[in-house]
Amino acid sequence: MRTYKALAVCWSFAALTSMKLVILAFFGAVASATTLLDRNLVYISPFHDHPQFGRDTRELHARHLRNGRRQVQAASAFDDEHYPTFYGGDFSNSPFVWNGGLNFTHSVASGDPFDTSVLLWTRAVPLTNETSPGPDQSVPVCVSYKVFTSPSLSGKPVNSGEAFTSYDVDFTVKVEATGLKADTKYWYFFADCTNPSSVSPTGVTRTISHPDTPAHLVNGGKDLTLAVFSCSQYQRGYFNAYGVGAHNTSADIFVHLGDYIYESLGNGAGIGRQVLGRELATIHDYRQRLNQYRTDVSLVFAHQNAPWIAVWKLAAVRAYHEWMPVRQVAADDKLRIWRNFQIGKLLDLTMLDTRQYDRDLTDVYYNTDYVNTIAAYPNRSLMGLDQENWFFNSLSESKYRGAVWRIVGQQIVFTQLNESGHFDLDAWDGYRANRQRVLDHLYRGRIDNTIVLSGDSHANWVSDLAHPNDTSYDPVTGHGAIGVEFAGTAVSSSSSFGTNIQPAAADKISDVLVAVNRNLQWSEGSYRGFYTLTINPNTLTATYWAMNSTSSANLDAFVSAKFVVKNGQ
Ligand SMILES: *[C@@H]1O[C@H](CO)[C@@H](O)[C@H](O)[C@H]1NC(C)=O
Ligand SMILES: *[C@@H]1O[C@H](CO)[C@@H](O)[C@H](O)[C@H]1NC(C)=O
Ligand SMILES: *[C@@H]1O[C@H](CO)[C@@H](O)[C@H](O)[C@H]1NC(C)=O
Ligand SMILES: *[C@@H]1O[C@H](CO)[C@@H](O)[C@H](O)[C@H]1NC(C)=O
Ligand SMILES: *[C@@H]1O[C@H](CO)[C@@H](O)[C@H](O)[C@H]1NC(C)=O
Ligand SMILES: *[C@@H]1O[C@H](CO)[C@@H](O)[C@H](O)[C@H]1NC(C)=O
Repeated sequence: MRTYKALAVCWSFAALTSMKLVILAFFGAVASATTLLDRNLVYISPFHDHPQFGRDTRELHARHLRNGRRQVQAASAFDDEHYPTFYGGDFSNSPFVWNGGLNFTHSVASGDPFDTSVLLWTRAVPLTNETSPGPDQSVPVCVSYKVFTSPSLSGKPVNSGEAFTSYDVDFTVKVEATGLKADTKYWYFFADCTNPSSVSPTGVTRTISHPDTPAHLVNGGKDLTLAVFSCSQYQRGYFNAYGVGAHNTSADIFVHLGDYIYESLGNGAGIGRQVLGRELATIHDYRQRLNQYRTDVSLVFAHQNAPWIAVWKLAAVRAYHEWMPVRQVAADDKLRIWRNFQIGKLLDLTMLDTRQYDRDLTDVYYNTDYVNTIAAYPNRSLMGLDQENWFFNSLSESKYRGAVWRIVGQQIVFTQLNESGHFDLDAWDGYRANRQRVLDHLYRGRIDNTIVLSGDSHANWVSDLAHPNDTSYDPVTGHGAIGVEFAGTAVSSSSSFGTNIQPAAADKISDVLVAVNRNLQWSEGSYRGFYTLTINPNTLTATYWAMNSTSSANLDAFVSAKFVVKNGQ
């Protein structure tokens, strides 16, 4: 019997091994009754402070108490409501936990690293069979987690704990590992509380620098590498790009810019990638889709081996928060995922939501002509007033605190792209005044070294950011530019230049676009892939990776282009 002083919780498994449920006894105050439910962040996010939408853990606990015992005790035991006692304890306030075995069906993941903490994720599904159909929704599942500083998982864990999950949240678990050291790599796993030898795969994660760490000391003085992804459509191809990112680059953090899943069905049968279910509408649909996407071997490997920082596009809020290791930024705002990471004085990574949050009317294909007439209205916003003010403050604050680079992770292409008179009104080209306000803020505030990251377009684009008032801007030398945009192609979604377009044909289109669009330096539309950003105080290097084929699971890829941005230039 072990006693957890901090929680005043005592475990009592030994005498109950024949049961499929065991008793978890709380000797402490009743106030601690929901501690293990509350530690699993998927219950509180995204609806904390909105109990009418959320998972009220007090209510869940009460339900566990009410129904749990009835499933393992003969009815006669309850004739006089005389609850079983054990080691002399009073169990009248004790729920049962599942002890019939767990399956960590989707390995592990981690995300949103800070200097002293990181989120750890897993999914712990009760093992069931015909004779043991598993717990109904009234029984919680208990997992423990342990964090170590070496892959041998030896010594005392630097952080550990237990948390409950249940049917209510699709058996997902998201806990915050705390008390960690900055810029440090960690190994972690989850286990079944009732059977510690039943463990998840071991995951690898890391923390980032303290915001005040001098730029040259960030990441222990070594380059820091971000791998940047967008647009992974299961039925269109295998997610090899994630695998190449994890196996073949030295990426420290994976950044995802949206379209992590797609709502549509398509037809992936030809490559063995038919999606389950239907066009997404309900929480069940979203969970099923995330569940299926997260079986791709490259995606599983990438989640297991590095922390991710993601912003969404098409995912229902609750399922997204359940399945993704993202932090909930504002307790009373389920939709707010715009947030900032200060990685020492080397950089700020500012993640925006240019998709959902307070975004004014967009082009949804039947209204293109109308949106064209309003695209330049000054009162149109891509992110809403709150987020826009926060974004501008984040940029100014980053400059003020002396960070070398400002990296803005957001979903859609920023630079104007004139495609023979057509503009993508679903990108910043549909919100021109908002784009101008961003450039104005950078230009007026003399905020330099800003790097905008974008996805969404299913093609690669590299552009200078230049303010129109600065007539000294020279697209050949880059003189006068105030930043750079790196827009990346899709992990697997079809090229916007035409499905399966061949490199030679795509390059012809690119040549025309680069000639017509002054700020555009490079364009490539054939290959699926991703890019990395390798960052130090002097340079930021973007390396574009192209996948040879996404119609099978493989790690064949090559570097298609490399760009270096020099500090101050
Ligand atoms: C565990 O889950 C995986 C993934 O869903 C499945 O392939 C496997 O059969 C499950 N194992 C057991 C013992 O149920
Ligand atoms: C937005 O600006 C346009 C053009 O200036 C104007 O016609 C429109 O009424 C404005 N809309 C709102 C809601 O203020
Ligand atoms: C877009 O490009 C076309 C030529 O392809 C040109 O006629 C047109 O003026 C351009 N529009 C803008 C706003 O630059
Ligand atoms: C750019 O020039 C215009 C016209 O001279 C001026 O109104 C505007 O304030 C300038 N913008 C910035 C950011 O300096
Ligand atoms: C991948 O494509 C590149 C460029 O065409 C080629 O050089 C390389 O040999 C290909 N790799 C494989 C494994 O086919
Ligand atoms: C990536 O690594 C894997 C396994 O280490 C290897 O098989 C594959 O050829 C590598 N791919 C590239 C593009 O280097």
